[in-house]
Amino acid sequence: MVTTSSPFTRSPTVARSTWTKRSALPQYSPREHQERQQERQQERQQALPMALVTAAAVSLCFTASPSLADTFESKCIGCHAGGGNIVERSATLSLPDLERNGVDTVERIFDIVYGGRGKMPGFGLDCAPKGACTFGPRLSDEEVQEVSEYVLNQARLGW
Ligand code: HEC
Repeated sequence: MVTTSSPFTRSPTVARSTWTKRSALPQYSPREHQERQQERQQERQQALPMALVTAAAVSLCFTASPSLADTFESKCIGCHAGGGNIVERSATLSLPDLERNGVDTVERIFDIVYGGRGKMPGFGLDCAPKGACTFGPRLSDEEVQEVSEYVLNQARLGW
């Protein structure tokens, strides 16, 4: 009676197939092995600086500029789309208008954004009197500063 499933006939087969797989792996000479290790070490050394550069680039793109543009888009674009002015045509956010109206520095833009002027409402936290200020959510001093810098930058770039 032949017992094909006996452990004595199966185990040598398993052992042989494992051996075949192992011997199929590439065999490196000691010199090749050393070269490969050096390559891997170089790759590791280059990986960290690259990761840092990538992280810096990503944070520049996704934190700084979009948040500035976001403030402008949510608070100002209704009246100043494309750097224009739909309420007062002689007071656009173009560089010539800013210069003519004496609003061509971040400080002067800050004052107007903070406290308002004419028909433009102020957005500062302590803007007063109430009638000259926005009814909507206010901007922190930092946000007023950032959006003022953004406006001057865009004006210099021609919007
Ligand atoms: C409700 C409409 C309205 C909104 C919203 C608004 N503005 Fe104005 N803005 C005006 C008007 C009107 C003027 C002209 C004011 C005047 O008569 O002196 C003006 C003037 C300005 C000026 C001076 C321009 C110049 O050439 O003299 C700046 C700078 C400015 N706005 C920036 C902003 C910023 C930044 C925001 C968003 C935080 C904003 N504005 C939101 C209506 C608006």
